[in-house]
Amino acid sequence: MTMTATPLNTAETKLALPGHQGLKLEEKLLFDQSREGSYGVDLPTLKGTTSRTGQPVRETVGLPEVSEPQVVRHFVRLSQMNYSIDGGLFPLGSCTMKHNPRLNEKLARLPGFAALHPMQPDSTTQGALELVHTLENWLAELCGLPGITLAPAAGAHGELTGMLVIKKAIEARNETRPIVLVSDSAHGTNPATARTCGFDIVSVPSGDDGLVDYDAFAELVDKHGKDIAAFMVTNPNTCGRFEKDVTRIADKLHSVGAYFYCDGANFNAIVGKVRPGDLGVDVMQFNLHKTFSTPHGGGGPGCGPVGVTEELKKFLPIPKVQKDGDTFKLVTDCPHSIGRIKAFHGHFGMMVRALAYMMSHGADGLQRVAEDAVLNANYMLHHLKGTFNVPFKGYCMHECLLTDKHLKDKHVSTLDIAKGLIEYGYHPMTVYFPLVVSGAMLIEPTETESKQSLDEFINTMKHLAHLAETKGEDTFKQFPLSTPRRRLDEVKAARQPILKWEKPE
Ligand SMILES: Cc1ncc(COP(=O)(O)O)c(C=O)c1O
Repeated sequence: MTMTATPLNTAETKLALPGHQGLKLEEKLLFDQSREGSYGVDLPTLKGTTSRTGQPVRETVGLPEVSEPQVVRHFVRLSQMNYSIDGGLFPLGSCTMKHNPRLNEKLARLPGFAALHPMQPDSTTQGALELVHTLENWLAELCGLPGITLAPAAGAHGELTGMLVIKKAIEARNETRPIVLVSDSAHGTNPATARTCGFDIVSVPSGDDGLVDYDAFAELVDKHGKDIAAFMVTNPNTCGRFEKDVTRIADKLHSVGAYFYCDGANFNAIVGKVRPGDLGVDVMQFNLHKTFSTPHGGGGPGCGPVGVTEELKKFLPIPKVQKDGDTFKLVTDCPHSIGRIKAFHGHFGMMVRALAYMMSHGADGLQRVAEDAVLNANYMLHHLKGTFNVPFKGYCMHECLLTDKHLKDKHVSTLDIAKGLIEYGYHPMTVYFPLVVSGAMLIEPTETESKQSLDEFINTMKHLAHLAETKGEDTFKQFPLSTPRRRLDEVKAARQPILKWEKPE
């Protein structure tokens, strides 16, 4: 194939490169940089031929021989290969990659928080316990559910905790309810969670508007009745839409004694505006690392608090923080609790960051977060809807959903657009999710992006669509052009990954 793709920043493209260029670096493994005789530390010459444990000393352990500057530069360059929210707009839909205010970081690093030991006596950790208690109160107020646990380590862990609470409540009622309904647009963690808890999954279809098909749902409730433990619905859902039948869904579920579980991962779109508890939700998880801007990504620690109704409070995990007059204590003697789901008290640093975020925004500021998240997504939708196919009519919530339908006759797909974005310095949007929409491109700009950065991204997307129209698949199948790795054989990479360095013969 000839290299016909448009190079970056030519007069033809006239695009600024707003994303960052970390992905364009090549970096060899330290092993491959090794040169015999290079070293970073002076070690005393070894005396004798046995180590302190009595083992014979090996001639070599095969570590790379590199100098200190080489090592430092290697790791700094590797860090620059990570695309990060600190480097550019991160359009991943459903993942809410937004700016983390540095104030949160500063507060989380205060020695009084950062240097605490989880086994210190309560009398020496009053400030931390008060912080947990205060955060619980804020979250309870925001979701309209009185019982909160902060223990879960992430959204999916929050789902697990919430569903274990539901399971325990059903057992306490001496009932057996084997079925959990899950909407077909759900994040994969919803059915996975329900199955992990031992439930059978029954999928509830979405209608043409991307919302739960209420009639199909009601039919399933009539069919399975008291066999249903719960319905797991994400709201706003993964198509970026608000489930308008939410109160009818709650009433219908409650009429057969089932619980309403809300996946609250997208809470940033409604925070301060709508309280799921007021709509009939019984259990929901928050993804603190999305809504309240604690760092997110790279497998780092998250925090997935769960809110529950008064009835379900007693089943929440231990330990619980209790206020006794002016003092706080950790309580573990809770006979109905599902028990511990995390070592000690969860990811405390995330709690500090989230509370700092909430308090610095205030109640009105949090409402503004939701308003701006929705405004930015609609700005994006408005400017891209003439260029890409939009599967659902009307406004979106915090993320806008496009598809590759119009590009199909040019043989350009969603994956090609994603690879094109990499070429132009962006992390791609979420692709092929939600599964209910063919060729989905889910873009969540978040409220922390300026109009300027939204415009830059929109221009890049329009430019890619223009390339698809004018140059078609020949150009696109080569993207990304200027990264050290081009298109990977993704199936081979998944099935035969090379995870180990081996010394060349
Ligand atoms: C809708 C939805 N639910 C659940 C999750 C799981 O959250 P976590 O990645 O924190 O486990 C996500 C994550 O992106 C999500 O988008």
